[in-house]
Amino acid sequence: MLKPEMQKAFNDQINEELFSSYLYASMVSYFEQQNLKGMAAWMRVQVQEELLHATKLFGYVLERDGAVELKAIAAPTAAWDSPLDAWKAAFAHEQHITACISDLHSKAVELKDPASTIFLEWFVTEQVEEESNARDIVAQMEMVQGAPGGLFMLDRELGSRPAPAAGGNAAAT
Ligand code: FEO
Repeated sequence: MLKPEMQKAFNDQINEELFSSYLYASMVSYFEQQNLKGMAAWMRVQVQEELLHATKLFGYVLERDGAVELKAIAAPTAAWDSPLDAWKAAFAHEQHITACISDLHSKAVELKDPASTIFLEWFVTEQVEEESNARDIVAQMEMVQGAPGGLFMLDRELGSRPAPAAGGNAAAT
């Protein structure tokens, strides 16, 4: 059974992941309004990724005979100063989530909960990819500033991001 302190920390992380999906859903709307349909498509996939993260944590808490306590999800920002600004916000958010996962992992170690420590290693690795994806796109966006043709090409490329595969991240849930 999960220790109460660990259970609370997992529930906080479920809320963080649900907020992440909310934030990226808001970016879907923003990019659609900017007529950047490829970026909106990329973010639609990211919304699904975040829901998978929340679901994975949700399932783990229950598997450990814990209680899931769903809390209110804060309203995300609805608009950004520019598409680049939105991507920078996505990168900053992933850095925040990495810090949350790191704290959660440290808590599992501190509370001598090896099952949670091992379970959270998947998230530690996942955050390397999450940050890397966002950082790469920020760098690409900076490269195409003032070059509409470049932005058009980048938007088209981002629109080809595949949906989360049932055998990919979903398999880990
Ligand atoms: Fe669930 Fe993007 O971290």
